[in-house]
Amino acid sequence: MSRQMTFDLGGKVALVTGGGTGLGYHMARSLMRCGAAVVISARRQTVLDDAIDQLSAENLPGCVTASTVDLSDRSSLAALVEKVSASFGGVDIFAGNAGQDLMEHVDRITDRAFDQMMQVNLSANVELVRAFVPHMRQKRWGRILFSSSAAALCASPHEGSSIYSASKNAINTFARTIATELGHDGITVNSLSLGMFLTDIVRDAFTRLDREQGAGAGDAARDSFASMTALGRLGELPEIEGLIQLLASDAGGYITGSTLAVDGGLSIMLRPNPVTQDVGQ
Ligand SMILES: NC(=O)c1ccc[n+]([C@@H]2O[C@H](COP(=O)([O-])OP(=O)(O)OC[C@H]3O[C@@H](n4cnc5c(N)ncnc54)[C@H](OP(=O)(O)O)[C@@H]3O)[C@@H](O)[C@H]2O)c1
Repeated sequence: MSRQMTFDLGGKVALVTGGGTGLGYHMARSLMRCGAAVVISARRQTVLDDAIDQLSAENLPGCVTASTVDLSDRSSLAALVEKVSASFGGVDIFAGNAGQDLMEHVDRITDRAFDQMMQVNLSANVELVRAFVPHMRQKRWGRILFSSSAAALCASPHEGSSIYSASKNAINTFARTIATELGHDGITVNSLSLGMFLTDIVRDAFTRLDREQGAGAGDAARDSFASMTALGRLGELPEIEGLIQLLASDAGGYITGSTLAVDGGLSIMLRPNPVTQDVGQ
């Protein structure tokens, strides 16, 4: 008789970085729906507390706890690993979702901003994988997911995202490469090429556009992103949940090394070069 593959995550422990807000919150929620014990982490304790209150109020099959971390600080990262390992023995599902986009033009970005973005978007994920893979290997089962970006695959129409895009491209390559190293141990690794979802990181970018280019620039950017998708709209946060359940469970057990586009068709569209368009060429 053929084996029935399920979405059940009962008995699994998941860590979702950036799990108190935006896409990470919905990742945590979707994993809890399947019965996982989820740890959400981020810098702001109050945001994590609010997320726990809201998630707990839904009476989902899984449970949630929180652990603060600053991913740009190696000692804070080590403390997170220690705390999660002491509480749960390790992590079966790691969603490296937290990210930063400091939106600075390439010739103005400071060394500090560069280091911070690469540390949060890339190095912290590498360090957390290194910390949690031994436990996954031992269990011969593991799931690793990264929140990457459509900006890793095609140039963003808005200036200031070169380092962000580079860090996201690096995480895609990292995911593909470790998928080959870890596959024999039953560990799958995938990255999500995310399009535009209206979350804090995106609202901040639009607010900054308003400040730098005048009121309305943020709204114009939002509309222009919507018009660049096949679906003609931005993504809604719950639209991430089904894919997370698939990739994190046995149901998605044969999906590995992929960069999956969750972008409303943004990446399949042809569009004009924003720079030549702006200068009227
Ligand atoms: N929304 C989109 O359209 C979109 C598109 C492409 C890719 N993405 C990616 O999706 C991921 C989630 O972003 P989001 O859109 O959901 O935005 P968000 O709500 O702003 O999430 C970013 C999360 O990362 C956490 N974070 C940032 N810096 C951190 C640090 N140094 N240490 C620990 N946690 C940190 C933030 O929490 P604290 O501030 O409390 O630390 C926050 O929870 C990011 O990797 C982003 O690049 C999003």
